[in-house]
Amino acid sequence: MTRNNARAKAGPGFIPLGRFPAKRIPARVKKTHKNKKPEPLFRSIGSGKALAAGAAFLLLAIAPALADAAAPLRAADEQALSDQQLLGKRIFEDVTLSEPQGMSCASCHAPEHAFQGNNKSPIAAVALGSTPDKVGTRKTPTLMYKAYSPAFGFYIDADGAKPKLEPRGGQFWDGRAADLAEQASGPLLNPLEMNNPSAEAVVAKIARAPYADLAKTLYGPEVFADPKAAMGKMMKSVAAFELSPRFAPFSSKFDDWLRGKTELTAEEKRGYAIFIDTKKSNCVDCHAGKPESKDPTDWIFSDFSYHVLGVPRNAAIPANANPEVFDLGLCKRPGLEAILPKKIKLASLCGAFKAPTLRNVAVTGPYFHNGAFPSLRDAVAFYATRETDPGHWYPRDAKGKIDKFNDLPKAYKASVNVEDVPYDRKPGQRPRLNDQEIDALVAFLKTLTDRGMN
Ligand code: HEC
Ligand code: HEC
Repeated sequence: MTRNNARAKAGPGFIPLGRFPAKRIPARVKKTHKNKKPEPLFRSIGSGKALAAGAAFLLLAIAPALADAAAPLRAADEQALSDQQLLGKRIFEDVTLSEPQGMSCASCHAPEHAFQGNNKSPIAAVALGSTPDKVGTRKTPTLMYKAYSPAFGFYIDADGAKPKLEPRGGQFWDGRAADLAEQASGPLLNPLEMNNPSAEAVVAKIARAPYADLAKTLYGPEVFADPKAAMGKMMKSVAAFELSPRFAPFSSKFDDWLRGKTELTAEEKRGYAIFIDTKKSNCVDCHAGKPESKDPTDWIFSDFSYHVLGVPRNAAIPANANPEVFDLGLCKRPGLEAILPKKIKLASLCGAFKAPTLRNVAVTGPYFHNGAFPSLRDAVAFYATRETDPGHWYPRDAKGKIDKFNDLPKAYKASVNVEDVPYDRKPGQRPRLNDQEIDALVAFLKTLTDRGMN
């Protein structure tokens, strides 16, 4: 599969971050942490030399017990985390960090649902914010396997006959955060999400949190003195947590099959064969993997590239009640114009969203950036019959004409990809995938669910 191989290797910097930088915190840091806590006790005993010596002796004697008390308490699933990752986890789960209190990152990115979800929103596609009357405008993506996303940029796609530049990477559906650390402050300050007025306000809350000492141990006792710098460090810790192996367990049936530990059913295998067939489904072109490799880390099921798929408008999203409102995705990414290569027209990126990983896709619906499809089968069938039977997917306009690509303004409808497999078809032609093949693809996608996810 050289086509896909070339894609995965293409471009400077497209090196999967792979081997998780899940470094253990050096022993030095741990020691400081342990030594620090007993100090107040030492001081309270008195200041005379003899007393001090006695106290020091006492301290030595009880030091191990105290040190244990001072060490951050770890749940069973936290034993393998570094102190920095643990701090990130505490922040990730802290429900006092929303305004008003009550929601955390985990409210929308629930660990048991592959780190996605909607905070019990009445509208499945978009999450409820901390203010009861506010919902978002896009589907919450899974946070799993995001460690493999390169920083946002334009990369050489050596896929076709002629290498060309294409946008890839970054965080959010439109890549507007360069990386995980930059991303994390977004939801904390977004009025539709955690709704804090400023970084200062967030840092002030963390400084009062029960885990504030952990932050001081890691970054120094004065860490909260400069709120801007502190925010950066706190968000780095959140990113470190998101880079921990828990977010990339590679524990699906498919991974076990790659490792030779289990068999796929005949239908799952058929689905796999269709998935990697670039003349039939072409799924692997964007939801990338290396068919010649048995290494699960070569199978992230995304190359983090951006494409305009023309997904139908989701009328359930309140913002869409206004017919003038369109979510244009990548072309509205702040700062994009400044780095846009000359050969790429900005308008061609309107309606483009990032290809998500398909790992855990069976449990992460509804699907696409606007959650337009509740069913995984529909999400797959859409690829097959969008061009051959558009009336099935799009409503009719006032004149009775099928309003194809109805979630894009007229000017941008031409940006939708109609040339590549599988949507290089015309109405009335046979779709590239029939019903059985769609079923097989879905059966295969269901093998991508990690253990314990629902
Ligand atoms: C109210 C629900 C909600 C909360 C709370 C929330 N998120 Fe998100 N998260 C979303 C949505 C929705 C998106 C997609 C937004 C977009 O692309 O514009 C997202 C996107 C992300 C992404 C990008 C993933 C990708 O595929 O590009 C990361 C990383 C992330 N969130 C981490 C966090 C962290 C860390 C916190 C807490 C500090 C948090 N989120 C809090 C709903 C939420
Ligand atoms: C040209 C690149 C490309 C190809 C080929 C492609 N996809 Fe996608 N896929 C994307 C992009 C981009 C998105 C997100 C689009 C959006 O939300 O607007 C996506 C989204 C999805 C989703 C929704 C996932 C989620 O979490 O919301 C599914 C399911 C999916 N693709 C399956 C497939 C299957 C199956 C195939 C092969 C039949 C395929 N894709 C072929 C680029 C591609």
